[in-house]
Amino acid sequence: MSVATSLIEDQPARVAPTETLYQFEETPLLARQSRQESNARSYPRRIPLALKRARGLYVEDVEGRTFIDCLAGAGTLALGHNHPVVIEAIQQVLSDELPLHTLDLTTPVKDQFVQDLFGLLPPALAAEAKIQFCGPTGTDAVEAALKLVRTATGRSTVLSFQGGYHGMSQGALSLMGSLGPKKPLGALLSSGVQFMPYPYDYRCPFGLGGTQGIKANLNYLENLLNDPEAGVQLPAAVIVEVVQGEGGVIPADLDWLRGLRRITEKAGVALIVDEIQSGFARTGKMFAFEHAGITPDVVVMSKAIGGSLPLAVVIYRDWLDTWLPGAHAGTFRGNQMAMAAGSAVMRYLVEHRVCEHAAAMGERLTEHLRILQRDFPQMGDIRGRGLMLGVELVDPAGARDALGHPPAFARLAPLVQRECLKRGLILELGGRHGAVVRFLPPLVITSAEIDRVAEIFGRALAAATTTL
Ligand SMILES: Cc1ncc(COP(=O)(O)O)c(C=O)c1O
Repeated sequence: MSVATSLIEDQPARVAPTETLYQFEETPLLARQSRQESNARSYPRRIPLALKRARGLYVEDVEGRTFIDCLAGAGTLALGHNHPVVIEAIQQVLSDELPLHTLDLTTPVKDQFVQDLFGLLPPALAAEAKIQFCGPTGTDAVEAALKLVRTATGRSTVLSFQGGYHGMSQGALSLMGSLGPKKPLGALLSSGVQFMPYPYDYRCPFGLGGTQGIKANLNYLENLLNDPEAGVQLPAAVIVEVVQGEGGVIPADLDWLRGLRRITEKAGVALIVDEIQSGFARTGKMFAFEHAGITPDVVVMSKAIGGSLPLAVVIYRDWLDTWLPGAHAGTFRGNQMAMAAGSAVMRYLVEHRVCEHAAAMGERLTEHLRILQRDFPQMGDIRGRGLMLGVELVDPAGARDALGHPPAFARLAPLVQRECLKRGLILELGGRHGAVVRFLPPLVITSAEIDRVAEIFGRALAAATTTL
């Protein structure tokens, strides 16, 4: 066990969920929520909980039940809920009477935040880095990145990837692979997005898989950018998630990423890496692109960067800094509590070697899942990096695809999710047909807690498969 693990495990453990199965009846509070909140609400439909308190990996609902939270604010809570260093940082801002809202004026807290963030960047990027503070959602950082690269290159189109997720505003939505949220809108406001196949090895879009699939993918991309008859304008940028999150926890092959960087650089096309979900030690490196040793032109960041509070930024290389003052304004770009909390998280990640811990815990969970896979042929593919893991559920009785893999088991996934919830484990689904069970716990999860998560998941899978 690494030093990093034992440091984190020194934290007091909280009670684990009970052995009794939780039941989910509609309480008055939940009924009022469904009556009054929009039809577009999402998580409460599958996770019908009213939460009261939270600490670390655990949340407690108003019924007094405890749950292990392996959703963690969709990957936001790197240190879990209400971590003492985060709470202390927020309290310090309050007791110092710092203005809570400063537009994009600077403060000592903001300056410290920038120094802390630049200190985490690989030196090649830090040396030429500029930062733009955005409105406090990941989506707004993506919007800013689009404007940045379009202005700097004088080109208007962008390449995105099938299965990609970059947010829900109209520009970011144009980059999304999933058709569901786009269909009702008809033509999107932002046109000019060309979709490319992502290196999804288990369902290789070229029907090849392995190194052959990667080679075919890169050839296709290189040809698209260089063939004068490709039918596609040279884009301003390519935007990519190094590990697709919402698309089904699909880690890009590292050679593919290096190839992508080489091809884009040669073509003079900016490479935007979306680290909104994968950044800040989540994958076992501070940023997921570091696994491939590449230097992107633009990195979009949000979620964990605000230490539980809303914050989003774009980091980019200075050759792109040609946009004009006010090119990406916005009122809420000066959240001091988020910056202080974000600084506290960044320092903790370094001091406690959380990257190593996340990598070790990810391996531990993967080992558990591989053992379970021997008994459950429904666990088609186990994949991810660090603590960004997923299991693609498949129907072993279904017709196999070109690579010999059974089809996604969309009906099983929500049953597994519900059986987990009954046993006190919150997990989310993602991927094509919602058939990927996702593990996105706080990075400070201990090895005992990993074992517990795997044990609950195994029991839930057994229960779900028998109810089919
Ligand atoms: C990779 C990625 N990009 C962008 C976003 C959008 O961020 P937000 O929901 O904060 O707008 C998300 C959200 O899950 C994401 O995972």
